[in-house]
Amino acid sequence: MNIPGIFITGTGTDIGKTVVTAGLARLFNKAGVKVLPVKPAQSGGVRQPNGKLGSPDGDVYKSAGAEWNVEIQCPYIFEPACSPHLAAKLAGVELDVSSIAGKVRSLEGSGTLLVEGAGGVLVPLNGKSTMLDLMKELSYPVVLVAGNKLGTINDSLLSLMALKQAGVKVCGVIMTACEGPAPSEFGMAEDNIRSIENFSGVKVLSSIPYISDWNVDELRCWEEVDRALSGINISSF
Ligand SMILES: Nc1ncnc2c1ncn2[C@@H]1O[C@H](COP(=O)(O)OP(=O)(O)OP(=O)(O)O)[C@@H](O)[C@H]1O
Ligand SMILES: [Mg+2]
Repeated sequence: MNIPGIFITGTGTDIGKTVVTAGLARLFNKAGVKVLPVKPAQSGGVRQPNGKLGSPDGDVYKSAGAEWNVEIQCPYIFEPACSPHLAAKLAGVELDVSSIAGKVRSLEGSGTLLVEGAGGVLVPLNGKSTMLDLMKELSYPVVLVAGNKLGTINDSLLSLMALKQAGVKVCGVIMTACEGPAPSEFGMAEDNIRSIENFSGVKVLSSIPYISDWNVDELRCWEEVDRALSGINISSF
């Protein structure tokens, strides 16, 4: 791989970014490419018995077999489950795009970085900058994660429009189905994919189906993610 990292953003929160990031880590590892997942700003950190905050997203990467050290791969972690700008404010911390980017860049060379954003493209990091500013600063190619459900065409096209307008390179969309199976009526699931590609000119790289009784500790779940992502040519990043 000749890129230092990939940025995984989404059309919103709870849309499947962590599962996609972990799945990409497995795909790259299988191809012999060392990767390091990074969660630069985590809200909703979970208090550990040692008093420190743990990253729920990091725990998922670890369950998928990826390397994970919260102290290194998650530089900013906050307990309240709210937007990072608010969580940081409540903690008396000033989030700053260049400091976050610096911490991410310090990991370059330890493997291709798979950087997961928080929430969607325009989630604030402070009173003046958003996740999009971090993407611009890092200038890694971006993958957009979108849920295959009613409303996704609008959500996806708006996100892609903002990314394009900012001059960020988008390498593709990965569809997921977190809340239930992708809608089968009226051929909606396939039409969502076709419409996103048609109006944006961005390719949908893969679709991860709804996996019933999702459990990060069960190999069958990761094997299903692996199958869904297996068609992605990693050299296209
Ligand atoms: N393919 C799937 N099938 C079934 N359930 C899924 C699938 N992918 C994700 N989920 C469920 O959806 C939830 C949200 O997924 P995920 O944590 O990947 O979202 P996210 O976009 O990373 O959220 P956040 O904004 O909090 O980082 C997961 O906890 C899991 O329960
Ligand atoms: Mg996540």
